[in-house]
This record gives sequence, structure tokens and C-alpha cells, in this order.
Amino acid sequence: MTDVIPLKAPLGARIEGLDRSRAGDAQTAALLARALAEHLLVVIPGEPMAPEETRAFSRAFGEPQRQLLRYKRSGAVPDVSIMVSTLMADGTTDKTAIRAEDWHTDDSYFAVPAKATLLHSIEIPSRGGATWFCNMHSVFEALPEATRKRIDGMRAIHGYDTPRARNRPSARTPEEIAETPDVEHPLVRTHPETGRKSLYLNPNRLDRIVGLERAESDALLDELAEEARKPQHHHGHVWNRGDIVVWDNRATMHRVVIDYPEGEPRIMHRVLIEGDRPY
Ligand code: OGA
Ligand code: MN
Repeated sequence: MTDVIPLKAPLGARIEGLDRSRAGDAQTAALLARALAEHLLVVIPGEPMAPEETRAFSRAFGEPQRQLLRYKRSGAVPDVSIMVSTLMADGTTDKTAIRAEDWHTDDSYFAVPAKATLLHSIEIPSRGGATWFCNMHSVFEALPEATRKRIDGMRAIHGYDTPRARNRPSARTPEEIAETPDVEHPLVRTHPETGRKSLYLNPNRLDRIVGLERAESDALLDELAEEARKPQHHHGHVWNRGDIVVWDNRATMHRVVIDYPEGEPRIMHRVLIEGDRPY
């Protein structure tokens, strides 16, 4: 019997009693998809799996989508990426991990961003390294009514990089650059499964609001980001080895805290799940 147990938090549910090898059964897949749309974050405890099994499991949520950066794709199973965020003795880690320390939603630089991300912990440090999540439905609902009215219908430009982000992203190959022109998305989007509105914000990628002067756009984006920084919208996931965590990129942001000991491996396997064009 599979149980969906809501966390005592602004988002998230824990899935218990799930046989991971049966996640593709129509009934189980429907239960998982519903839990994700409703709770925006699902945590499925278990043991580390091989990339083939992770890919098979991810299909319960939709179609796997290869990630942009080729160097992260695992050789034999390119739908599964290998994310190494181990902290090195010189204080550095992989660039994408440093970038992930700031609040973001995945892949908003695509016209059709991944609807969900699955992260599966293979090796985790002895302490630290939590991943924090922000409920962007509740952020939208907490904004003053005048702000909600003002921003509903606005559109924004997302790019692979923006001077507004604190850190620069990983370099792209010419092929990867050709796949990432700037794109336009609504600033307020509607969840296609629940009909709820959310603020579609991505401080790492969102450059400007269409039709506003730069200064006005910056001020509004800063004001919106401030609401999203309030702890009342947040939940931190403390990893156990073997956890599978799936989040809904349509209505959440996330960030990793790089506060773990140097040299202790932090290795995650990751699958992006294909989405729809935001509206
Ligand atoms: C990601 C990400 C955070 C983490 O995989 O998209 O932001 O905790 N990961 O590794
Ligand atoms: Mn991310």
C-alpha cells in the first residue's frame, strides 16, 4: 500500500510503502503525478539505484529529457546526468553547484522548460548539503493584491545568463549556445494540472520584464524576489543516501546549501522530465 504523507511544511510529501520497481504501473504513476502536482515536492526514501533503474522510475512522472550540458550526461544512459557537487580542498566545487546555491527553477532558459526534476542521492556528505524548496503558489498568494494585479499578464525574458545572477554559469559549447537563445515566459503562470497561479521567478536566469525600463524592471524583480526569500514559503530537505526527490519546476524554486565538509563526495543522479510551454 503506497501512502502519501504531507510534510508539516509549506510544500512536500513523503511517499511510503512504494515498490520503486512498480512505479510505472498506471495506478501508481497516477498517484505519484497527483502527489507532485498537489505537494510540489515528493520524497521517496530507498537505496541507491543504477542509472537504468532511475530512468525507468522517472517515467512514472513523464518523458525524460536530456539536459543541456553534454559533459554531465552519463555515458550509457544519457537521460540520467551525474551531478558532482563535492566541495574541494580549495573551496571550489563544480560551477553548476555554486550556481545552484542561489534560488532558481530548472531550465527556464528553454521555451519549454522541464516540468519536474528528479534528484537521486548516490553519495552524500556526513553533514550539511540540504536542498531547500520554495512554494511559488504561496509566494504569489502572499503578494499584495495590487502587485498581483499589476504583474498578472506581464512577460519576462529568461536567458542562460543575466548580470542579475550572483554567479556566472558553466561555459557552453557552440552546440549548446545555439540551443539557448533568450526566451520569453509569463511572469505569473498557471499550473496545468491544478489551475493554481504561481510566480514564475528565476533569479539565476530572469533578465528583465518586457516593456519596462531596466531600472523599473530591476526594482520589481527585486521586490518579488524578496517575498520568495521569506522562510514561511520554504522547506529544507536533509538527504539520506538513496533518497529520490522530485520537484515541480512550474511552481517551486530550490537551492543547495554548500556547508558540507571538504572532500566528502556529494554525488546525485538527475533526470529532467519534459514539460509544456508555460501559460
Ligand atoms: C539541480 C539542483 C541542488 C542540489 O539538480 O537542479 O539544483 O542539492 N540541485 O544538488
Ligand atoms: Mn537546480
